[in-house]
Amino acid sequence: MDVFEAISSRRAIKKFDSSYKMDSSDVQKLMNHVILAPTSYNQQNWRFVYVTNQDVKEKISVAARGQAQPKDGSLVIVLCGDMTAWKTKPLRYWRNHPLEKQEMVKDALERKYSGNSENLRDEAVRSCGMAAQTIMLAAKQMGLDSCPMVGFEYDELAELIKLPEEHLIVMMVVVGKRAADASERGGQLPLGEVAFENSF
Ligand SMILES: Cc1cc2nc3c(=O)[nH]c(=O)nc-3n(C[C@H](O)[C@H](O)[C@H](O)COP(=O)(O)O)c2cc1C
Repeated sequence: MDVFEAISSRRAIKKFDSSYKMDSSDVQKLMNHVILAPTSYNQQNWRFVYVTNQDVKEKISVAARGQAQPKDGSLVIVLCGDMTAWKTKPLRYWRNHPLEKQEMVKDALERKYSGNSENLRDEAVRSCGMAAQTIMLAAKQMGLDSCPMVGFEYDELAELIKLPEEHLIVMMVVVGKRAADASERGGQLPLGEVAFENSF
C-alpha cells in the first residue's frame, strides 16, 4: 500500500471482527517491522507485550473500562518503556560500528539519563509513540486496522502483563479486522493553525 494512502486511511477503529485471528507468522512479521522504528541513540528502549490469548484480551477489555477493542481485535500490543535500557549493555546498540562509536554513545546515554527521571520518561513516551504509529501503518499494509488506546486502569493492566520494575506503560494498540468503519473524522484543524514555516 502507498504510504500516503496508509496514513490517510488509518483510523481509530472501534468495532473489530471478533472472528478474525491473525496467524502467528503475520504477528511476527508485524513485530519485526515495529522494531525498526527509530529511537534516540538507537537505544531501543521500548518493550512490547503482544497479547494474542483471548482470556487475557478479555481481561484487558475489563481494564480498559469495558472498551470492546481489546477483546474483539486480534492482537493487543502494550507498548512499555524500559527505564534501564540506557545502562543495560549499551555498547550493543552500536555493535555494528567501531568500539569508539559504541563508547561515545554509552557516555552520552549516561550523561542524559543517569538520575534524570524526566528525561527517562520523555524518552519512553517518544520511542513508544514512534513505534505505535509504525504498528498502525504496518497494519494497514497488511490489510488490517488498529486503535491506539490509553483509556485503561494503569495498575490493572500492569498486573495483567506483569510489568517489571522501572518500566512504564505508555499506551496500547489493538490490531485486527475492522467490522465497521470509523465515524467521520472529528475535524482536523487547518494546517495554518498548527504548522509554521521557519518559526512561530
Ligand atoms: C494516545 C491515544 C490514546 C487513545 N485512546 C483511545 C481509547 O482509549 N479509546 C478509543 O476508542 N480511542 C482512543 N484513541 C483514538 C482517538 O480518539 C483517535 O485517534 C482520534 O479521535 C482521531 O481519530 P482517528 O485516529 O480515527 O483519525 C486514542 C488515540 C491516541 C493517539
